[in-house]
Amino acid sequence: MTEATEIDISSELLTLIVVGVVVSVFFVILGIIICLIVLYVYRKLTIIKCTCHKHLHGKTAIVTGGNSGIGYQIALALAGRGCRVIIADKDNCESTKNEIINATDNPNVIVKYLNLTSIKSIREFSQDINETEDRLDILINNAGIANSAQDYTNDELQVTMQVNHFGPFLLTHLLIGLLKKTSSSRIIFTGGTLTWLSNLEITNLNTYNKIQTWAPIFIYANSQLCNVLTTVALSRILFNFEIMHPQCEPPRAATALNIVLEGLIKNIVLKYYAKTAEEGAQSVIHVAISKETENVSGELFTNCHATTKPIKSSDFIFVRSIWEASEKFVGLTKEEQL
Ligand SMILES: *[C@@H]1O[C@H](CO)[C@@H](O)[C@H](O)[C@H]1NC(C)=O
Ligand SMILES: *[C@@H]1O[C@H](CO)[C@@H](O)[C@H](O)[C@H]1NC(C)=O
Ligand SMILES: *[C@@H]1O[C@H](CO)[C@@H](O)[C@H](O)[C@H]1NC(C)=O
Ligand SMILES: *[C@@H]1O[C@H](CO)[C@@H](O)[C@H](O)[C@H]1NC(C)=O
Repeated sequence: MTEATEIDISSELLTLIVVGVVVSVFFVILGIIICLIVLYVYRKLTIIKCTCHKHLHGKTAIVTGGNSGIGYQIALALAGRGCRVIIADKDNCESTKNEIINATDNPNVIVKYLNLTSIKSIREFSQDINETEDRLDILINNAGIANSAQDYTNDELQVTMQVNHFGPFLLTHLLIGLLKKTSSSRIIFTGGTLTWLSNLEITNLNTYNKIQTWAPIFIYANSQLCNVLTTVALSRILFNFEIMHPQCEPPRAATALNIVLEGLIKNIVLKYYAKTAEEGAQSVIHVAISKETENVSGELFTNCHATTKPIKSSDFIFVRSIWEASEKFVGLTKEEQL
């Protein structure tokens, strides 16, 4: 009699435990699904489209990396508003150019070779632009990469740092004469939201930590922070300019994530949680043309709105030290310095 009751109790307990586990697992999975849905809806709701219809006839813009992705969307949007667009890219852009001309009915789209991994190419490009263009209204430093940490260019610069920071830094210096000649021109540095991951110090501007497993991510984040610092510093040196830094993540984050994500998870993240290139380009287009951002300088933008800058950008001693080290790394002469 007592034995039977004991068995009953323990089997009841077992059933209770099993039910408990099943219910908990169910709620955990439900919780995860709800979070993913909320994240997805949030992403959809936060897409803002630049609706500015400003005409850009008679104006000239340079878009680096304009052959693909966000750069292509920016070039398309500017050409669609009548701007003369110079697509600066290392790849052959003839078919891109024809597509944009065809789509916008604006024949004023040209392509020029610019290889940001080569200082020589940056200098040749700038000289060519300086000699052939009479004005430059909008410079969009859009090209960016997230490469392996160990790669250095022939210029002895870390490749991600050179394409994302040193290259645009030099390019902007060399085009400043033309930008100054044109009234109220805009200089735009683009980048991602990973600046919070940055471990940038004056000592690791052009080196990487060999034992850090995720070195490429840190270098990418450092290059993004450098762009914010350049934006802030330039806006203090140059007046009558609008110098801005719109963030075009998540597509850029996705580029950086390529380093650590693989296979199915990467595909799911890219498909459902990353913005498309067109969506990612909107903040850049907005700061490049909108009336609202006229007279705005040294600001960081996300989703077409000014946002809080990383703390390090208000440490002016740090900003200055990175600036001066960058001048040395790219080999600017005394006359070329600002
Ligand atoms: C231009 O667009 C038309 C349709 O609008 C298409 O038939 C043609 O192939 C396009 N040409 C190029 C060079 O893309
Ligand atoms: C860019 O420049 C580097 C260094 O000169 C060179 O090795 C590379 O082939 C160039 N890339 C392209 C696409 O021209
Ligand atoms: C650009 O051209 C002007 C004259 O047209 C010249 O004074 C200036 O030095 C040139 N700048 C560069 C960086 O080549
Ligand atoms: C920007 O400044 C100029 C000159 O001070 C002024 O005429 C213009 O209205 C300003 N634009 C905006 C959007 O505040």
